[in-house]
Amino acid sequence: MTQVTNTVRFVLDGRIVEAQGKRRTTTVLDYLREELHRTGTKEGCAEGDCGACVVLVGELNAAGTGVDYLPVNACIQLLPSLDGKSVKTIESLKKADGTLHPVQDAMVKCHGSQCGFCTPGIVMSLAHVVQVVPGRGQGLSRGEISDALSGNLCRCTGYQPIIQATQQACSTALATDPSSLAIDSSADVPLLKEIKRATHPTYSLDGEIVVQPVVRTKKGSEFVSPATLAEVAQYLVQNPGTTLLAGSSEIGLQVNKQFARPGHICYLGNVAELKAVTETSKAWRIGAMVSLETVLALVKDTFPDFAEVLRRFGSPPIRATATLAGNIANGSPIGDSMPCLMALGATLVLRRGDKQRTVALDKFYTGQKQTVLQAGEFIEAIELPKLAAGQTFRAHKVSKRFEQDISATCCAMSFSLVGGKLKNVKLAYNGLAPSPCRAPKLEAVLEGKAPADVTADALDGAIAASFTARDGLRATWAYRSLVARNLVLEFVEDAAESSVAA
Ligand SMILES: Cc1cc2nc3c(=O)[nH]c(=O)nc-3n(C[C@H](O)[C@H](O)[C@H](O)COP(=O)(O)OP(=O)(O)OC[C@H]3O[C@@H](n4cnc5c(N)ncnc54)[C@H](O)[C@@H]3O)c2cc1C
Ligand code: FES
Ligand code: FES
Repeated sequence: MTQVTNTVRFVLDGRIVEAQGKRRTTTVLDYLREELHRTGTKEGCAEGDCGACVVLVGELNAAGTGVDYLPVNACIQLLPSLDGKSVKTIESLKKADGTLHPVQDAMVKCHGSQCGFCTPGIVMSLAHVVQVVPGRGQGLSRGEISDALSGNLCRCTGYQPIIQATQQACSTALATDPSSLAIDSSADVPLLKEIKRATHPTYSLDGEIVVQPVVRTKKGSEFVSPATLAEVAQYLVQNPGTTLLAGSSEIGLQVNKQFARPGHICYLGNVAELKAVTETSKAWRIGAMVSLETVLALVKDTFPDFAEVLRRFGSPPIRATATLAGNIANGSPIGDSMPCLMALGATLVLRRGDKQRTVALDKFYTGQKQTVLQAGEFIEAIELPKLAAGQTFRAHKVSKRFEQDISATCCAMSFSLVGGKLKNVKLAYNGLAPSPCRAPKLEAVLEGKAPADVTADALDGAIAASFTARDGLRATWAYRSLVARNLVLEFVEDAAESSVAA
């Protein structure tokens, strides 16, 4: 293993690219377009919304035999985070003999492109999702295709021919050559092994961990990408003003839209301990670098409502990279995962140096985007309890658009029905206060009541007593508070109906 300071090394179509002397905040999109002239990848919004910039980024699989690719929004990913990875752009899909990828071919035949600006990003999203088809021996459903496209905006074709093209690509390939749906990474695997990043810390002669930068400027700004938790912890104690970088779906926007140029950036994407999920009979421990897509798969069967909130969180490229810890740490008032996690009683494992402490998520925020995190402290993991016997969990996000939209409010609630009465109620919202929060006054209204005795008036009174009425850009207070009350009524009525049915 070699480590080259000021050089970001990644694999692109069977060759190692060495990006030298680039800024730590250069985006993947700018580098691909301006330096490598891969101009098929487009810039639309530069904020992760439109999907024109989708490329595939992959890492060696655990066996070291292939590459696991994920769709990412190149506009909000920082170039140094590519170090040690493989990239595929729209130009990568056409074979040397000119054969198009089945999705490209079907897009031509089904007239899936008009002005074409959105097309490369759409094809990359679809090339990713059709990879699952050969394993299943059947085509993708319309719903699966529509989910896969939820982060790709097309304003002039309409989605019908694009969906038809995807279905045609799958059926033609399955009938002729299913392997044509796979992303060819054979030439990239040996090169990825060659540029593999260190998995152990480097030590100085006196036994201190030395965190090697990927990029360092003459003025001392740097981008580091440690391999271990111990390195992250030490680096943060030594450099408490460091910006942690996880999935980059917030940081990328700060760089592009607010021109943020953090002096020290510490990328967590190479820390194996932070990518792990461990499970006991009572809880999951979700590492800080676990993506939302992985969390979605994890909770799908146990908490279907939480999974549905996550399915509507951003888009597949956002969820492939964005993390639960990043959502929590960012602390936006309309962060979607937090109401679900609070209602489920999640706790955070925080680390500073070699010291750990746990904090209940509902005690984590001290104000708008303010948290109990101390200088040099970070989220190591999230502990998510499983449901106890008899416990029910419900959640729903209300937004103007079904996908890729910000909540007016998201309400989550856990409770048990004991002898026909609501017990152990935990209720949480986003969008109603400066940070996502529990609603103890509403919980008190519900606790010990039979569902039929819960009234809209009592809930309205508790909402008025709990929150400051404020109209927002996305919804008026009248709308938000009405929705906040009605969601609770719906959860409670459903519980009453299912207890009668049982
Ligand atoms: C197009 C788009 C759609 C979106 N849709 C939604 C949505 O539907 N719902 C929603 O809630 N949000 C949404 N977001 C916001 C964002 O995706 C989430 O907040 C996401 O979970 C952030 O995670 P990340 O890993 O990308 O964080 P990053 O951008 O990497 O980091 C975010 C913040 O958290 C800090 N941080 C990261 N990891 C840690 C850690 N382990 N310890 C301490 N601090 C840490 C970073 O320093 C930074 O301040 C969207 C964003 C975009 C661009
Ligand atoms: S340019 Fe719009 S998502 Fe990247
Ligand atoms: S083909 Fe024009 S925006 Fe999609």
